[in-house]
Amino acid sequence: MTKVILRGSLLSLACAAACLLAGAAKGGRSGDPLLFPKDDFTVETRTVKTSAGEKKVTVRFYRHIPYVANPVDRDYQSLDVIVPIKVDEAAVDAANAPILLTIGVGGYMSVNNARSAGGGPAGGGAPGRGGQGGPAGAAARLSGNADLALAAGCVVVSPGCRGRDNRAADGKYFGKAPAAIVDLKAAVRYIRHNTGVMPGNPGRIVSTGVSAGGALSALLGASGNSRLYDADLEKIGAADADDSIFASACFCPITDLDHADMAYEWMYGAVPTRSGSLVDQELSRQLKAQFAEYQAALNLRGKEGFGIITADNYAGYLLRYYLIPSANRFLRGLTDEKRRGYLARNPWITWTDEGAAFAFADYTARVGRMKGLPAFDDLAMAQPEPGLFGTATADARHFTDFSLRQASGDKTARIDGGLRTVVNMMNAMYFIGRGNGGCARYWWLRQGAADNHTSQTVIANLAVSLENRGKDVNARLYWDAGHGANEDPEDFIAWIGAVSGPI
Ligand code: DHB
Repeated sequence: MTKVILRGSLLSLACAAACLLAGAAKGGRSGDPLLFPKDDFTVETRTVKTSAGEKKVTVRFYRHIPYVANPVDRDYQSLDVIVPIKVDEAAVDAANAPILLTIGVGGYMSVNNARSAGGGPAGGGAPGRGGQGGPAGAAARLSGNADLALAAGCVVVSPGCRGRDNRAADGKYFGKAPAAIVDLKAAVRYIRHNTGVMPGNPGRIVSTGVSAGGALSALLGASGNSRLYDADLEKIGAADADDSIFASACFCPITDLDHADMAYEWMYGAVPTRSGSLVDQELSRQLKAQFAEYQAALNLRGKEGFGIITADNYAGYLLRYYLIPSANRFLRGLTDEKRRGYLARNPWITWTDEGAAFAFADYTARVGRMKGLPAFDDLAMAQPEPGLFGTATADARHFTDFSLRQASGDKTARIDGGLRTVVNMMNAMYFIGRGNGGCARYWWLRQGAADNHTSQTVIANLAVSLENRGKDVNARLYWDAGHGANEDPEDFIAWIGAVSGPI
């Protein structure tokens, strides 16, 4: 009897809780500015090119939803949600599907969601960006990541966000660092806030981006639930929710900005620029020496008992685990005739039964140096990065001690503590190095082997630091491919399915 009563009272308690929740979802949340407008969509169809032919995907398109309660500018701080409901004639239930969060940022510029809202799931950014737009090379016949994800049954969320170019009517900049990552975190919180209301599984958010967008994807993945952003998130009225993500895909991430100049000199210091001249060799040597110190301090263990990766053995590490496998995949995929032709045009590569072999210096000479010195925190402050670290009233600032000293002539100058914190808040490596608990578990890292926008050590350090923390990393270079390449987009979508459970 007691048991029955107990069960009865538990039942009524459960009932009351359910009613409360239902009330909250209906009437109780109607005043919630961050409630997903689940009935406000248009039905659209799009043609998606897959290796199995074209698919007609019918979607619910939810446009331009503000994801914070107090936006600085809602044109930017809004997102699109695209939910597949039919692929060809087969119905799709995306209620619990993985969510692909497409970061359309390029060059650390803003993404205007009011403008991109009509443009489909490309999510802004420069046209043709590999991660979100159409892939290059052999995969050029395929649609981009977002459309392929929809065809596979995933929900796609494309947030706008502030960027270094944003300027208000009064002339003040409002998108300097860390605005973009604060906005992207707010978008993740919006998705979590709408668990059960918005289609898709908030436990399976996979971010993707290219270049600066790839760096933001890495940062979103690495910095989950860090308290460093709380004040900024509160200011814009972000939902009070978990902002960690499940997986992060980073295409040619321009990250680790505070060490990128050093890394660039390590890789390209002795390589002439496009005009044929060498950069200042003394300054290059100083930066290269700083890289050796930085790399040693990272204390990263290479694969298969390689030992600690240092500036001295890094060329060997890149060759063994990234460059040679990339060249081999490419060369083995060619017909004998085409391979012979390629090798004749590239005598710096030797080809035997064991595959390709070449010297690192020949590889860097072939790729060529793209940027000047310093490559990122440049003295003219014309690169995107000094602009990223500007303030409301200063368009650009030096963000490394090295460039500040060069520019000011003061050999002891240091960037101030406030800026140092902002630089950390923009660097995925900062959070991985500290073992941040909210770091994503799964990582998809891709870069062209001929991409000279940053040193190849940047993506390799990202991969190794994650591997050393027990994360699941799928990293690869595309042979001969440049900036923004995405040559295996269907493998990426299949990987999302494999790590998430069936889509
Ligand atoms: C991008 C490219 C760069 O070379 C850089 O320094 C920053 C961003 C980009 O393509 O997004």
